[in-house]
Amino acid sequence: MTQHIGELNPPNRLMLTPGPSSMDPRVYRALASPLVGHLDPWFKGCMDDTQVLLRQIFQTENRLTMPLSASGSGGIEASVVNSLEEGDEAIICVNGVFSDRMAVIASHTAAKLTKVEAPYGKPVDAEDVRRAGKGRKIKIVGLAQGETSSGVLTQIEPFRKVADELGALLVVDTVASLAAVPLHVDRERVDICFSGTQKAISAPPGMSPITVSPRAEEAFRNRKTKVQSWYFDLTTAMNYWGKERLYHHTPPVSLIYALREAMRIVVEEGLEARWERHRVNQLALIAGIEAMGLELLVKRPADRLPTVTAMMIPDGIDDAKVRNQLLDEFNIEIAGGLGPLKSKIWRIGLMGHCSQKPYVLLFLAALEKTLLDQGFRVPSGAGVGAAIHSYAHAHSEAATVSR
Ligand SMILES: Cc1ncc(COP(=O)(O)O)c(C=O)c1O
Repeated sequence: MTQHIGELNPPNRLMLTPGPSSMDPRVYRALASPLVGHLDPWFKGCMDDTQVLLRQIFQTENRLTMPLSASGSGGIEASVVNSLEEGDEAIICVNGVFSDRMAVIASHTAAKLTKVEAPYGKPVDAEDVRRAGKGRKIKIVGLAQGETSSGVLTQIEPFRKVADELGALLVVDTVASLAAVPLHVDRERVDICFSGTQKAISAPPGMSPITVSPRAEEAFRNRKTKVQSWYFDLTTAMNYWGKERLYHHTPPVSLIYALREAMRIVVEEGLEARWERHRVNQLALIAGIEAMGLELLVKRPADRLPTVTAMMIPDGIDDAKVRNQLLDEFNIEIAGGLGPLKSKIWRIGLMGHCSQKPYVLLFLAALEKTLLDQGFRVPSGAGVGAAIHSYAHAHSEAATVSR
């Protein structure tokens, strides 16, 4: 049984997917730094830095702010199982696969669940949540700020209002939006907010930053029953991420190094500049897609999530053939649709490090070539031309504003 396994040599892809995104070389260097123990006094300082940076990115003073040792789904799980127990009621806004995952996880608890739904491609209407919760005691209202399966952005404010009327905690999934879309956890009074490291922060996958308001912490303290998960019980996990720094589990030390460096890059750029960069690059991408005669799934511009653009696959074009050609010929990865949108849309991610002008122009040129090869006629150079025009317009706007 001697089988030779060669040295690891992954391809260097441009990941224009809805996560993970490509990473800055500084993040790779941090990842390769010498390992230390998770209770090493030096590492405790590194943990402090990580929490300081997380609070800046979430725009919060919340004490309970840390990266969970889990992917984004772990963030959903922790938010839901810490806040819900028998006798509670939850309303979850569902407009895609990931917001539905929050509902599925809530259905694993003993709480009563109500789903308030919207078709994929649209945000849920806060008025429907108000109607569903009327006269009932609701413990949490949950939603995804960025629904990655359809590229839809949900405005938080109307849901905060409704949650206040219902006396509920507001739980917001920012896995696909943190560090790319405006978010002020304290100002918008989000009670539990979680994200993922592999999207607009552009760190490796595997951690889920989470922050919890003092009000939600109090709700956790007032629980009558134990949290159903030991690993995700946030009060005991905070023994490690709190002042005591007591062992809870062994965290992924190297991923924390990488997250720290990726967040230093976010903060150096500045959140507002980063939000604007994501907005401008998506506008150019959309201008290019539309100029090629292709359609978007999300019709209302205000509902479009700047990190994920969902475009309809033209009739007669094979989803997988196009994605495979982009990968083989241009080294570009994009994603297909999930659930009911499988084979109906492509999802282009412009997240964090990947939200850059050269990548937008390269992608549009590569898509034109690929579509032509697959038999879909595209006006020559129209996509790239429209994107260039969009950038020129955005820059002259910015120049006017800064004068
Ligand atoms: C909005 C949203 N929530 C949750 C998740 C789940 O995250 P993960 O795949 O890291 O577990 C994703 C993943 O794409 C997502 O986009």
